[in-house]
Amino acid sequence: MQAHTPTPAKTPTLNVLRIDASARRDGSVTRRLADGLVHELGRRVDGLSIVHRDLAQGLPFVDAGWVAANLTDPAQRHDEQRRALAFSDALVEEVRAADVLVIATPVYNFGVPAALKAWIDQIARARLTFRYTEHGPEGLLTGRKAYVLVATGGTAVGGGMDFATPWLRFVLGFLGITDVEVIAADRGMTRGEDARLAAEEQLVRLLDRQWPTMAEAA
Ligand SMILES: Cc1cc2nc3c(=O)[nH]c(=O)nc-3n(C[C@H](O)[C@H](O)[C@H](O)COP(=O)(O)O)c2cc1C
Repeated sequence: MQAHTPTPAKTPTLNVLRIDASARRDGSVTRRLADGLVHELGRRVDGLSIVHRDLAQGLPFVDAGWVAANLTDPAQRHDEQRRALAFSDALVEEVRAADVLVIATPVYNFGVPAALKAWIDQIARARLTFRYTEHGPEGLLTGRKAYVLVATGGTAVGGGMDFATPWLRFVLGFLGITDVEVIAADRGMTRGEDARLAAEEQLVRLLDRQWPTMAEAA
């Protein structure tokens, strides 16, 4: 029998991947919501590590070389094919390393911004982030939580014209991320500041439930 050795005290670390999809950096409602969420998490979690992927910097669309490389057995890929997938591999690693995803996205033309669609296209990789089994598709990015922070001008989130949040929920679930919270500052054109303030309040209430502050937990 092994002697019992006490487990050393560990600082719990929470790895957060923040993804911003708004084209704007100034005046962005979704970026402000994401700032608030990260700040609130920092108050609640001892040891927060944040990786920021700002999609406004641009990212490539998948192309023919990418598709062919992805379909090739990894052991058989030549250098050019490995290069074609290198950025996608890096994005997948960012998701894999994360415990929590913060996805801040506007609704553009009733869906997600093209940059966010391009990001999903880059991380949805057969055999890497999902696979097909005899029981159907299986997502391989399980065990992560996602917060989707969304803003709109006139579209009601959850309504018939919102193709963004149902699609995001679906595709994240397809990849195995089923624990998804959507917080909406929607219809900003008519609700003005109230839309964001209400979303921020909703966010704090949610975090109070999910991540009681360290002082409360002690
Ligand atoms: C290209 C573009 C398309 C948009 N399409 C919609 C839309 O379909 N429905 C809607 O309610 N608002 C739409 N809006 C408004 C944005 O969703 C809204 O301004 C939101 O606050 C933008 O997010 P941000 O503040 O983080 O930049 C659109 C804005 C832009 C720039």
